[in-house]
Amino acid sequence: MQTRKLGRTGPQVSQLGLGLMGMSDLYGPADRAESLATIHAALDAGVTLLDTGDFYGMGHNELLLREALAAGGRERVNISVKFGAMRDPDGNWIGYDARPAAVKNFAAYSLKRLGVEHIDIYRPARLDPAVPIEDTVGAIAELVKAGRVRHIGLSEVGSETLRRAHAVHPIADLQIEYSMISRGVEDGILQTCRELGIGVTAYGVLSRGLISGHWSKQRAGEADFRGRASPRFQGDNLDHNLGLVEKVRAIADELGVSVAQVAIAWVAAQGEDIVPLVGARTRARLTEALGATALRLTAADLARLEKAVPADAAAGERYNAHATAVLDSEKR
Ligand SMILES: NC(=O)c1ccc[n+]([C@@H]2O[C@H](COP(=O)([O-])OP(=O)(O)OC[C@H]3O[C@@H](n4cnc5c(N)ncnc54)[C@H](OP(=O)(O)O)[C@@H]3O)[C@@H](O)[C@H]2O)c1
Repeated sequence: MQTRKLGRTGPQVSQLGLGLMGMSDLYGPADRAESLATIHAALDAGVTLLDTGDFYGMGHNELLLREALAAGGRERVNISVKFGAMRDPDGNWIGYDARPAAVKNFAAYSLKRLGVEHIDIYRPARLDPAVPIEDTVGAIAELVKAGRVRHIGLSEVGSETLRRAHAVHPIADLQIEYSMISRGVEDGILQTCRELGIGVTAYGVLSRGLISGHWSKQRAGEADFRGRASPRFQGDNLDHNLGLVEKVRAIADELGVSVAQVAIAWVAAQGEDIVPLVGARTRARLTEALGATALRLTAADLARLEKAVPADAAAGERYNAHATAVLDSEKR
């Protein structure tokens, strides 16, 4: 497993990270034993970046990670934790809280649930519109000074917020959706990250499974986030987007790899400063994803993919209107 450095000041991490969200939330039922086995298999393969959030399954995801690390390996991994998204007992999203006191409170609970002395990268899941980013980052910087956090990250914020935050404390990485069909980051944000020396951890590189080559019309309407709330998985949008997948499949077949491997390798090929996070929930999916690390797409491959799936090829937005409204990264 090769490594990449997250920004100028961030840690050196495996070239592929594992996101744990789907093991607790949003993508339908997950199998606990298989989730643990998948995390262990990732560690065995040399994955050293694990991403979670305190709100993924309302603490469930952090407790799962604690259990996975009970067998050892904590010192080898970088744990990235998102905070700030608030939910009610039914799991409904009820806003964001990134006030300084809330930051410290969330961190205290995460440290306890994870059973660790420090969090490696700590980040607000979204910009809290009621709190200046300087205050939020200032509070995390105090946690850094206290030895409870090693690095500060951000998630789904735009260039102006990146600059303001970075002026308070160096930002290691921006976590943001980036895939062959989600290219908004190329419109200024990526350039800002590069100018400031901020790394990128790309999520949704398979567009939540849509461009993995394993999604189909038969799975439409599944009662999870994708089937219910994601515009790209609905009706005519889904037909169109699955048509794009077939174009990628033709190229993947010629290369002798899978669609998911092409999609992951495409993100990795966009720069040495980018680390794709994959949301594998099973060892089989993980093995496929890890296979992408051996795939180097040539300039000719990338040009063919660009022709088959141009930047704005997808039908439907990446989030519904309600969720898009809170994306600072979309306010350009
Ligand atoms: N900062 C943010 O706002 C934000 C938002 C979302 C996620 N994230 C983080 O990013 C991580 C990854 O996001 P994501 O899960 O949406 O990304 P993803 O990797 O695009 O999608 C993961 C889903 O794709 C399907 N899949 C099919 N083949 C796969 C393969 N070979 N490897 C992996 N998955 C495959 C799986 O669904 P099935 O198992 O149903 O087939 C899996 O759950 C999350 O776990 C989370 O930590 C961050």
